[in-house]
Amino acid sequence: MICLGIEGTAHTIGVGIVEDVDEKCKVLANVIKMYQPKEGGIHPREAANHHANFIANLVIDAIKKANIDKKEIDLIAFSKGPGLGPCLRTAATAARALSLTLDKPIVGVNHCVAHIEIGRGTTGCEDPVLLYVSGANTQTIAFAEGKYRVFGETLDIGIGNMLDKFGRIIGLEFPCGPKIEKLAEKGDKYIDLPYSIKGMDVAFSGLLTAAEKTVRDKKHRIEDICYSIQETAFAALAEITERAMAHTEKNEVLLGGGVTCNKRLREMVKTMAKERKARFYVPRNDLCVDNGAMIAWNGILMYKSGIKMNIKETTIDQRYRTDMVDVKWR
Ligand code: ATP
Ligand code: FE2
Repeated sequence: MICLGIEGTAHTIGVGIVEDVDEKCKVLANVIKMYQPKEGGIHPREAANHHANFIANLVIDAIKKANIDKKEIDLIAFSKGPGLGPCLRTAATAARALSLTLDKPIVGVNHCVAHIEIGRGTTGCEDPVLLYVSGANTQTIAFAEGKYRVFGETLDIGIGNMLDKFGRIIGLEFPCGPKIEKLAEKGDKYIDLPYSIKGMDVAFSGLLTAAEKTVRDKKHRIEDICYSIQETAFAALAEITERAMAHTEKNEVLLGGGVTCNKRLREMVKTMAKERKARFYVPRNDLCVDNGAMIAWNGILMYKSGIKMNIKETTIDQRYRTDMVDVKWR
């Protein structure tokens, strides 16, 4: 079975084509275009316009890269939520149009669940705790009693947003995470910053404020501040992941979300996993960031488990929580 998936929850519009080969995910194509705000944060309507401009060509490009005929597509999937309304609507509209013209079934996918399933489908892990770290999202998620449940999450801002906000303060361009990573590699002096964990949850705004103050004080090198932000924030993430693993008694950890591209974060979570004698998995970079292939793969799992939607049911849901999904395919 071959599925074309469209992702459009926030600043990325993506089209992925995947094939189900013996229950494993074979990615045939995965193309994305990312909206870059000229200044400040993401403007939902501008991002949606961006997506509308690029979606048709992305579909054509993906079909070409997959080296298939469009008639070979068996299913259309799209990101139903959570995310920004105008972006979600643009992706869903494109998906409906494709489903109707190709006369193929369509399913709406939960974006967060798709991040887990692409990891399960491509890395060989079976029942992991997912540390999902992106711009807006910071969560530990695991499967329990028929659903993916959130065990820990940020109480204020997402880790990626925190890094992007800090980056903007020191004059970096969006997305700032990779640039902060580069600067941090040149830092070696740890500056004490607030480390906040409450139970299984984390919080980052105190860390951001303190880091901002450190910049204003001009007593430390920017490289050392970046290094210290990463060490502090990632240690907190590794700790809540370990707590979720201990609580759920799972011995696999999977990373997902754009911040997962960070090598230091990978190293810290990997070390934690090793100390617990647990297995560590991370999908390829293009499958960690927001992408269409993960939506397509989750679409296949849903469809094969008997989930069908008619066009009227293909609505979007800006607040589509992870634990609202009935995971019939497990
Ligand atoms: P979601 O809609 O799930 O919240 P998103 O729209 O934020 O996702 P992603 O592509 O998953 O999109 O993640 C983007 C975030 O990842 C940005 O905040 C960016 O700064 C951060 N990021 C990307 N690469 C790195 C890196 N190497 N180190 C740290 N952060 C990174
Ligand atoms: Fe995401």
